[in-house]
Amino acid sequence: MGGRSSSNAPVDKGRTAPYVHLDAAAHEGVCARRPEGPLVASSPVLFTVAFRREMARLPAAQRQEWLTALALKMREPGAGEPLELAEVARGCRLSLVEAIAKQLGPFDTHQLNAVLEVPRERFVRREDVGRSADDTPLPLDGTGLATISAPHAYLLSYRLLRLAPGDSLVELGTGSGYGAALAAAIVGPKGRVLTIEIDAALARWARDTLRDEPNVTVLDGDAVSSAAQWGEVRDVRDAQKVVVTFAVDAVPRPWLEALRDGGRLVAPVGKTEQRLVLVERRRGVLVETDHGAVRYVKNRSTR
Ligand SMILES: C[S@@+](CC[C@H](N)C(=O)[O-])C[C@H]1O[C@@H](n2cnc3c(N)ncnc32)[C@H](O)[C@@H]1O
Repeated sequence: MGGRSSSNAPVDKGRTAPYVHLDAAAHEGVCARRPEGPLVASSPVLFTVAFRREMARLPAAQRQEWLTALALKMREPGAGEPLELAEVARGCRLSLVEAIAKQLGPFDTHQLNAVLEVPRERFVRREDVGRSADDTPLPLDGTGLATISAPHAYLLSYRLLRLAPGDSLVELGTGSGYGAALAAAIVGPKGRVLTIEIDAALARWARDTLRDEPNVTVLDGDAVSSAAQWGEVRDVRDAQKVVVTFAVDAVPRPWLEALRDGGRLVAPVGKTEQRLVLVERRRGVLVETDHGAVRYVKNRSTR
């Protein structure tokens, strides 16, 4: 477990979001201490940079308290999305990113920033918004067959894949689309993400949430028989990378056959207990390595 070096520190770049102002009254009574400075304004203020700085200064418990209060408000009949939700949820993810960096050792700052910037609150059920910044899986429906994985789990897989700007990624098991959104943030505008989901309702949810991501394609279907479609996402670097988000008893042969030279595939493998397995094709030879115990939902394929 490495410590967090300064180059890997999650940085709040204070980027200007498309999002504009905050009425400070929105969080009155939520913060135990009424924060000073730009959060408190009688009229709406341009807030992003100053607001983010203030969020970073608030104790983590207060940021979480604020998110919990907003989430409760959203559960009232007819309630819409509070204006400040995106920024407060992002503020809570500052602690999430720090915890991941501390727990998993040095990470590519670019990947950590994706966790900070991707609005996980949009990929969870409305009743789970208050827990969206927790490093924990959450159910996506009542079936027990689909969850949004814990954020660190995506980074573990993406680190093994060496996912980088300009790459293409094939994701097998879309869920609500969070993993695809993270990947899209990492591969950037020159990269591509193709994601495949067996549950039509989840695929619809993901497609809807990701509609403004031009580099992400969501397909309905059984990923076990999807290998013929992987070629739809050839990228500028021709670096074929595949991530699987449901557990398989063994890596299906068609996936191995479809893996091109230099290609990498990460999957949770095992019947009762699962291991995170990386398969690489190096000069025609498949090389498999084990990267520890994991727990994912099961394969829903009927084949
Ligand atoms: C851990 S969840 C996905 C997490 C997802 N990446 C996210 O960000 O929310 C695994 C997903 O794989 C889907 N799945 C299971 N078996 C599948 C299969 N054979 N083909 C495609 N999707 C499958 C499940 O329906 C579930 O949505």
